[in-house]
Amino acid sequence: MTQIDKNRVLIFDTTLRDGEQSPGATMTHDEKLEIAEMLDDMGVDIIEAGFPIASDGDFEAVSDIAKQAKTAVICGLARANYKDIDRCWEAVRHARRPRIHTFIGTSPLHRDIPKLTKDEMAERIHDTVTHARNLCDNVQWSPMDATRTEWDYLCRVVEIAIRAGATTINIPDTVGYTAPVESADLIRRLIETVPGADEVVFATHCHNDLGMATANALAAVAGGARQIECTINGLGERAGNTALEEVVMALKVRHDIMPWHTNIDTTKIMAISRRVSTVSGFPVQFNKAIVGKNAFAHESGIHQDGMLKNAQTFEIMRPEDVGLKETSLVMGKHSGRAALRAKLKDLGYDLADNQLNDVFVRFKALADRKKEVFDEDLIALMRSQEDADERLQVKFLRVICGTEAPQSADITLTIDGKDHQMTAQGDGPVDATFRAINALFPHHARLQLYQVHAVTEGTDAQATVSVRLEEDGRIVTGQSADTDTVVASAKAYVNALNNLLVRRTKADPDADVKQVSYRDAG
Ligand code: KIV
Ligand code: ZN
Repeated sequence: MTQIDKNRVLIFDTTLRDGEQSPGATMTHDEKLEIAEMLDDMGVDIIEAGFPIASDGDFEAVSDIAKQAKTAVICGLARANYKDIDRCWEAVRHARRPRIHTFIGTSPLHRDIPKLTKDEMAERIHDTVTHARNLCDNVQWSPMDATRTEWDYLCRVVEIAIRAGATTINIPDTVGYTAPVESADLIRRLIETVPGADEVVFATHCHNDLGMATANALAAVAGGARQIECTINGLGERAGNTALEEVVMALKVRHDIMPWHTNIDTTKIMAISRRVSTVSGFPVQFNKAIVGKNAFAHESGIHQDGMLKNAQTFEIMRPEDVGLKETSLVMGKHSGRAALRAKLKDLGYDLADNQLNDVFVRFKALADRKKEVFDEDLIALMRSQEDADERLQVKFLRVICGTEAPQSADITLTIDGKDHQMTAQGDGPVDATFRAINALFPHHARLQLYQVHAVTEGTDAQATVSVRLEEDGRIVTGQSADTDTVVASAKAYVNALNNLLVRRTKADPDADVKQVSYRDAG
């Protein structure tokens, strides 16, 4: 392989492509740019910024990320056809260091989709990789569903891609089927068997369907892979992808048995984890390794006693290694603007003055209602950032509830600047509230998810509410936080409806391509 430092593992982040592809995780253009900048700053080697042919929105995001990138290689995804590859090149060519990533499903099941024989597919791989290489000197090729592709055929197509000029060969475990021993063995045998394998970088791309993505990726590195494909918080379709924070910290903490290293500044992990969770609408599970709320919490008496005597008793890494600052009580109603700005910066939010003014007003209102404002409260506040330009807004809400059904909700919504009032009854206060909103703003979107979390402890804790709606295959999420669960629910629902309106009206001529997704590669 061409790398000089044989122990260096390249980190390829695909949060903005494979991660964003997971239903409901759609990010806006500005959010994608912001996440890309954070990835670049933390030392990610390659950023897969999107799938340019999927829609004009994807194309613009990839090309703007390519223009803003400082050090990272910017990569776009393309199926195995000239149109995809040309469009991809158009988007990434603005980058200082562009890469085209082209792929095709090579397993029997995937070969069946474009109805290609083995020979026809081999020819297609040769032609498309050659075409990509004529445009760009950095080309990655992936045999999708590699772990279920026949061994002989896999060797054959990998060799063809290398001969046609691919510089990175990625071996995806598309359906999360492999296991660590097999993952290491597959890469090792490919490197030993395929002519020219030592001239390229081998990459591993694992999905987490059996909960083995991190272990499989690390095993692949032991087998000779020198690029790990991963996402922040393990975001991705179904059970997600390998989590960046897990592989990076595993390599750092267990360097004694895994002598490979990355370029990641691990102190930036927490900030980007929170930001990705916010913009994608996917909460991080409390006990998630490295970035979960409880990952560094020690509650039991024995643990706390041990921790006070020596932190290493129960901690294999320090919270500050992943950018977790001493939390607990930080802000109150006497805290000023400068303190809020500094605190939010620590939490990963860099605000312009006008944004800060708006947040400050809302922070004061929260601090008036809630004695103690914790980091989690501020994150919830940022998540539920209200946008004055939103077409629908909750102006007033009162619910009547008690042990006797039905409950009722009286709501005033401002719709396009005009107030509308409605009272509705329902099975519980949230049901009544949603019915009242539906009566004022009829739609046929289906409620797919309604989720409530308490942000901190205590009866004055804020509730964060996530709502997911589906309309004609379009999936949108809404979030809000409030010390009143029903108010948070109403605002989250209205936020989702606003996002639906944006999706409905936004010109997205190729939306169908995106929904069909890359799995239809042909
Ligand atoms: O999981 C997968 O196979 C992919 C490919 C496009 C690399 O995401
Ligand atoms: Zn994938």
